[in-house]
Amino acid sequence: MAIRLGDTAPDFTADTTEGTINFHQWLGDSWGILFSHPKDFTPVCTTELGAFAKAKAEFDKRNTKLIGVSVDSVESHKGWAADIAETQGSPLNFPVIGDEDHRVADLYDMIHPNASDTLTVRTVFIIGPDKKVKLTLTYPASTGRNVDEIIRVLDSLQLTAQYSVATPVNWTDGDDVIIAPAISDDEAKEKFPKGFKALKPYLRVTPQPNR
Ligand code: BEZ
Repeated sequence: MAIRLGDTAPDFTADTTEGTINFHQWLGDSWGILFSHPKDFTPVCTTELGAFAKAKAEFDKRNTKLIGVSVDSVESHKGWAADIAETQGSPLNFPVIGDEDHRVADLYDMIHPNASDTLTVRTVFIIGPDKKVKLTLTYPASTGRNVDEIIRVLDSLQLTAQYSVATPVNWTDGDDVIIAPAISDDEAKEKFPKGFKALKPYLRVTPQPNR
């Protein structure tokens, strides 16, 4: 069964490169990013895991924990970690789940049989501190993800969780934002003391409120 936005992220206990983890307990009050890769010792995956590791400080700043998963074993992940450190310039610094029995992959519908019967596709699940799924992404094995985009969308999710705003196309942290349509002009004047510009009654733009 596909996991949809707003669903509670399924809980599980699994072996990882950092020991046994109970997912919900491990997340605690943090945001979380659970992402799958197809296979250890493959080129695109090596660049991805290296890029996530390199960006770890950015995720820490955003109170967000990273956890990877593939259908390889923990021992395989540990062996591959040396190659990631050697070729990508950053050692693995977050847990990677060993999922040989596909338990986590099946729970999160990460194996798409018309793409591959056995390997996980490249999924991303962003999970809020309330354990609800806030974002899902799915990429094929042949396309590496963009870590900057994942940080960008995390910034949007965290901002819009706190303020009655939405973020427009190509928004990045610091850009103007859109006032949620449910907010009246009178409410908007109170909530957004920096003011707003109404390009249309439904399109009102205000400086990012937490800047
Ligand atoms: C890769 O990471 O390069 C890869 C993994 C599985 C299938 C195809 C490509």
